[in-house]
Amino acid sequence: MSHPQSSPDVTRLPGWQALAAHREQLSEFSLRQAFADNPQRFAQFSLDDCGLLLDYSKNLITCETRDLLVRLARECGLAEAIDALFDGAPLNGSERRPALHTALRRPLGDRVLVDGRDVMPEVHRVLHRMTELVGKVHNGLWRGYSEKPITDVVNIGIGGSFLGPQLVSEALLPFAQRGVRCHYLANIDGSSFHELAAKLRAETTLFIVSSKTFNTLETLKNAEAARGWYLAQGGSAAELHRHFMAVSSNTGAAMAFGIREENILPMWDWVGGRYSLWSAIGLPIAMSIGISNFKELLSGAYRMDQHFQSAPFERNMPVLLALLGIWYGNFWGAQSQAILPYDHYLRNITKHLQQLDMESNGKHVLQDGRPVPCATGPVIWGGVGCNGQHAYHQLLHQGTALIPADFIVPVSSYNPVADHHQWLFANCLSQSQALMLGKRLEEAQAELRGQGLDEDEVQRLAPHKVIPGNRPSNTLVLERVSPRRLGALIALYEHKVFAQSAIWGINAFDQWGVELGKQLGQGVYSRLVGSESSTAEDASTQGLIEFFRGRHRG
Ligand code: F6P
Repeated sequence: MSHPQSSPDVTRLPGWQALAAHREQLSEFSLRQAFADNPQRFAQFSLDDCGLLLDYSKNLITCETRDLLVRLARECGLAEAIDALFDGAPLNGSERRPALHTALRRPLGDRVLVDGRDVMPEVHRVLHRMTELVGKVHNGLWRGYSEKPITDVVNIGIGGSFLGPQLVSEALLPFAQRGVRCHYLANIDGSSFHELAAKLRAETTLFIVSSKTFNTLETLKNAEAARGWYLAQGGSAAELHRHFMAVSSNTGAAMAFGIREENILPMWDWVGGRYSLWSAIGLPIAMSIGISNFKELLSGAYRMDQHFQSAPFERNMPVLLALLGIWYGNFWGAQSQAILPYDHYLRNITKHLQQLDMESNGKHVLQDGRPVPCATGPVIWGGVGCNGQHAYHQLLHQGTALIPADFIVPVSSYNPVADHHQWLFANCLSQSQALMLGKRLEEAQAELRGQGLDEDEVQRLAPHKVIPGNRPSNTLVLERVSPRRLGALIALYEHKVFAQSAIWGINAFDQWGVELGKQLGQGVYSRLVGSESSTAEDASTQGLIEFFRGRHRG
């Protein structure tokens, strides 16, 4: 891979040009016909590895398409980029940092150098401290100020210090150690704190302030509110350390807040927030499911890491998902990607994948600062099935946009109720099938005639019942949502996102775009609460500030 600071223009590569020409040849491609012509299509376009079955046969591709996409990946130096990722090259070009979330799940004994120093011993020292902490809480050895054991752990964090841990805790609820309840406090909206506090007792609550920078407004305000609540509830100031911990790369700021150094677990600037659930940011996960299950999660991700590094591109799950996303985004004009988990426990996976994908690849410049020559990260949206079928699937089936969908579904349920799981699974498959098949005009007409409608009604209604079909989807099937398989699934998407960034030539590991809002927020806040006039603002912001101030004048 060329040095990250000098990004080639991917659209000028022969592989890109070949794909553009190939796209023209596929303008009449029919998935229905492709399946009719080739009974082996599922076998040809599916992969079973790392505990996941990926069926990508319902995509607008032929074997030639796959070959051309793999050719593009090779021409972009993706293999070298993957090696650079795992070797700790400064792929976060703008911040001149490596992106070594993969080191967090590597076995002790592996060597990973950052600035010439092997970081693996420290990674495993932190994992050992997590093990001790979780053990003390679960065994009742960690006591609050009134000498009672901890019953509730509250993670205070936002973004990557919240979404990944929340997703995993929820997804692995069947593995939760029932004696300790885990909660997540993220937003600055006082209602979220209010609703949570109602469930807690200060004497048996442990707060974990999770913030890589320890400088995030929402988290610091919530940490202050939690401390105030703890004291107001009769919590002893002298015993505050029994109820407050921190996970941060900014130990100084955490100590300045009042958290004892021995209660601070470190994280590193070579781990991005949205990639950090494998670090001590994952402490609430371990508090919920136990450290051995947390280690299973790590081992599942490690297995996907090995797959990503070793599988040939045409049989490499993250690479294939990445290339399919590029195929639709850059050659079919798709601007969003739906993530549709058909599993109650995975219902929030879309929220984590939104940050993972959109904060990584929502970029408009290349690593070297030049404007990108093509579309980059898609909008990630979706939600749990079957609910989505009664909410937004209408647009997927009959809207005007091409929206590729990833269905995620377990074969088995932890909570079988009658034949519910069979219906859930059937719905998942039939939605993907309906997107592919569609319903032609003559089929709609025949259906209406079969219902006994007169010909006028048939002609009137039929066009409304036509479903275009030929809409692509992937289906990811896992036996059950276990720690190991969930680890592999999340790592799959981490590597998909990275592979796309490497092909586009963008930096997946910085997030400068979120700075402006924070900067402007300071000024708006001071005008909202201060006395100075808001004339410095545009008329919209000024008018809204005045409206707010008018409603809050005593
Ligand atoms: O949204 C910006 C961001 O920096 C995310 O990248 C990060 O996950 C989140 O805010 C929280 O940051 P921190 O963990 O430093 O509080």
